[in-house]
Amino acid sequence: MKELIKEVSAKECFPVRHAVLRKGRPLSSCAFEDDQNEYCFHLGLFVKSEIVAIASFIPRKFPEQKTVQPSYQLRGMAVLESHQGRGLGGKLLGYGLDLLKEKEASILWMNARIGAVEFYQKLQFSSIGDLFDIPPIGIHQRMYKVL
Ligand SMILES: CC(C)(COP(=O)(O)OP(=O)(O)OC[C@H]1O[C@@H](n2cnc3c(N)ncnc32)[C@H](O)[C@@H]1OP(=O)(O)O)[C@@H](O)C(=O)NCCC(=O)NCCS
Repeated sequence: MKELIKEVSAKECFPVRHAVLRKGRPLSSCAFEDDQNEYCFHLGLFVKSEIVAIASFIPRKFPEQKTVQPSYQLRGMAVLESHQGRGLGGKLLGYGLDLLKEKEASILWMNARIGAVEFYQKLQFSSIGDLFDIPPIGIHQRMYKVL
C-alpha cells in the first residue's frame, strides 16, 4: 500500500476526528482550542489521496516536568477504523517524532485514551501518574517519551 504523510490544516483533520474521536457528536466538537495555536502542527497520512490517519502536535509544557525544556503534547491521534491495525498509526507517529527531533523538542507527551495505552507502549512511551477521567470521553493515562 502506497501512503503519503504531509502537514495538513486543522480543518483537513476534521473528517477523521469526527469519524473516530467524536463519533455521534456535532461537527463543531472536532475543532480543538489548540488549532488556534500558530505553533501547533497537524500531520495527515493519505492512502490513494484519502486522509485516513491524523495527529496534532502542540507546543506545551509537560505537566510533570521540573525544568524548562521544549515539549509538545500529542492530540487528536486517530486512524479510520477501516485502516486500523495496519501499521499506519505507528508510521504517522514515528514521522511526527522525527519532525519533533528536528525542532529540537525534548519530550512528547499525551493524555492517552485507556484503549490506546498499549499502542503508545509499543512505541516506547512510558506512563506517569494515576488514571484520570476526561468526561465525556473516558479514562486516560498520561504518557510521555523523551526524544
Ligand atoms: C490507537 C490508534 C491510533 C493506533 O493506530 P493503528 O494504525 O491502528 O496502529 P498500528 O497498526 O500502527 O499499531 C502499532 C502497534 O500497536 C499495536 N496496537 C495498535 N492499537 C492498539 C490497541 N488499541 N491496543 C493494543 N495494541 C494496539 C498494534 O498491534 C501494533 O503492534 P505490533 O507492532 O506488535 O504489530 C488507532 O487504532 C485509533 O485511531 N484508535 C481509536 C482512536 C484512539 O484511541 N486514538 C488515540 C487517542 S489517545
